[in-house]
Amino acid sequence: MEIKKIAVIGSGTMGNGIAHVFAMNDFQVYLVDTSEKLIDKAILLIANNLDRMLKKDLITIDIKQNTLENISPTIGISKLPDNIDLVIEAIYENKIAKLSLFNELQEIIKKDSIFASNTSSISITELALNSRPEQFIGMHFMNPVPMMKLVEIIRGFSTSQETFDIIFELSKKIGKVPVEVNDYPGFISNRILMPMINEAIFALYEGVAKAEDIDTVMKLGMNYPMGPLTLADFIGLDVCLNIMEVLFNGFNDSKYRPCPLLKKMVAAGKLGRKSGSGFFIY
Ligand SMILES: NC(=O)c1ccc[n+]([C@@H]2O[C@H](COP(=O)([O-])OP(=O)(O)OC[C@H]3O[C@@H](n4cnc5c(N)ncnc54)[C@H](O)[C@@H]3O)[C@@H](O)[C@H]2O)c1
Repeated sequence: MEIKKIAVIGSGTMGNGIAHVFAMNDFQVYLVDTSEKLIDKAILLIANNLDRMLKKDLITIDIKQNTLENISPTIGISKLPDNIDLVIEAIYENKIAKLSLFNELQEIIKKDSIFASNTSSISITELALNSRPEQFIGMHFMNPVPMMKLVEIIRGFSTSQETFDIIFELSKKIGKVPVEVNDYPGFISNRILMPMINEAIFALYEGVAKAEDIDTVMKLGMNYPMGPLTLADFIGLDVCLNIMEVLFNGFNDSKYRPCPLLKKMVAAGKLGRKSGSGFFIY
């Protein structure tokens, strides 16, 4: 099966980056969101990101033009043609919303196409249940998608070898480095990253060191480009808490319990960069 037409559902942070990368690699992309305003915003952002690449001589004006021409802005999934080969879902991190979307897509999109989810933490096996489990897979891109090489390719319980092979090869075709991961909470990326961030928050909570100093240790001592508390503010403390809860509940293991300070900050609306303050002020 050759993948030519791709539908990216959700044109937010991740969806517009995913559409950008596939369109730049000559795939025909339908970028879907719920309103014209959101779609226009996403297309403008992609055009601005292409301009930045153009200025840095990473692409030519023809590539920019071609990339934009390869994207069909689409309002609502009902406007999609049925002959889409691959659907990549990148809507809100909400299991009920994702399940209901895949239910609808199951009726609209031809039966032999592949469904993928960009979820950061929801089980691929559970998302696949009511649509097409053998042709369902996780494609976990990293933010910002055009810059970051990694894609975690997550095999659900029933994902077929054929589906896995197609998606693994496709990821290489768009210049990414795919890594095979089985479907367990947090996959690999968040299973390792989030407990590290949570431990940094525990260190702050227990008064081991100040926030700036915890970040300095990890930056200068471990060569991390960003300290864990700065990174938590960047990701959003609500997102961090949500993923820790997925790990805690998914493994039934107290080693993943979210730090009480993280819970308290989320309750207080201190969500990091997006709310103006978190561990640091913005
Ligand atoms: N932001 C990150 O750093 C990051 C990294 C990796 C994975 N993810 C995952 O990617 C997914 C998307 O995250 P995001 O940060 O891009 O979210 P976002 O909030 O920026 O964008 C979500 C978009 O989906 C749209 N949407 C919601 N329901 C829709 C529907 N039924 N049909 C069409 N569009 C719909 C919204 O209007 C919005 O524009 C989540 O599952 C998240 O966990 C996020």
